Amino acid sequence: MALLTAGNISKAFGGLQATNNVSLEVETGERVSIIGPNGAGKTTLFNQISGYIRPDSGHIIFDGHDITALSAHDIVRRGIGRAFQRSNIFPRLTAFANIQVAVISQYKLTFNLWRPASQLTIVNERTTHILETIGLNDKQANRMAGQLALGDQKRLEIGLALALEPKLLLLDEPTAGMSAQETEGTVQLIKNITEQFDMSLLFTEHDMDVVFGISERIYVLNQGNVIAQGAPQDIADNPRVQQVYLGTTIEEE
Ligand SMILES: Nc1ncnc2c1ncn2[C@@H]1O[C@H](COP(=O)(O)OP(=O)(O)O)[C@@H](O)[C@H]1O
Ligand SMILES: [Mg+2]
Repeated sequence: MALLTAGNISKAFGGLQATNNVSLEVETGERVSIIGPNGAGKTTLFNQISGYIRPDSGHIIFDGHDITALSAHDIVRRGIGRAFQRSNIFPRLTAFANIQVAVISQYKLTFNLWRPASQLTIVNERTTHILETIGLNDKQANRMAGQLALGDQKRLEIGLALALEPKLLLLDEPTAGMSAQETEGTVQLIKNITEQFDMSLLFTEHDMDVVFGISERIYVLNQGNVIAQGAPQDIADNPRVQQVYLGTTIEEE
């Protein structure tokens, strides 16, 4: 059974069908992307999977449980982490403190009987480990998060999601606005963390080098409908995809 199964999920905004009977699966440890032109419904789909928007119809099964009606908070607790297209960090706290807050919120659930001093040691070790994993050094960790370079803020954003130890990570446009160098670093980071933690990944992305560099499977959305899905090479060779997406709309973005 797949880790995540979305079955025929639909969401309309007034007369606009943002997602239309979308079905998709992500296997344990698999890296899957959703591509499609602006307005295709990618973020709406993510919002439904992460519980920010309730689908009008359809169901979402995660790790053997029906999560369709759960709150965003409960979905995070079940193991779907998410880094936001708009930043979720506290800009006036240090990078270290940002991760520390997330680690504490995760540990509060399980470690509330421990003595405070040993709790703090564990929290700080875990925080340091996450900062190392996402590639922020001590100097960066002690800067205010809002003053970090965009690429480093995105690393921090991913670190916040990792602190909650997700089984599935959702990333919406992780390289938006980045330089080529920051993009390359982010691609490496995403590959490393998914492999290191055997974590599944579902992401959207407009940069085709990133899409083909990371994805093991790709879904193509257009006007709310899945028009193709398959291995990267099959998607690249698909005439309908080329016509609808790769050929025409990409130049307009
Ligand atoms: N909260 C909302 N209210 C009304 N329309 C929305 C809302 N969110 C998204 N839409 C519309 O739904 C469509 C899909 O949007 P979105 O999911 O953001 O696409 P993508 O992420 O693929 O660019 C767009 O036409 C968008 O304008
Ligand atoms: Mg979007």
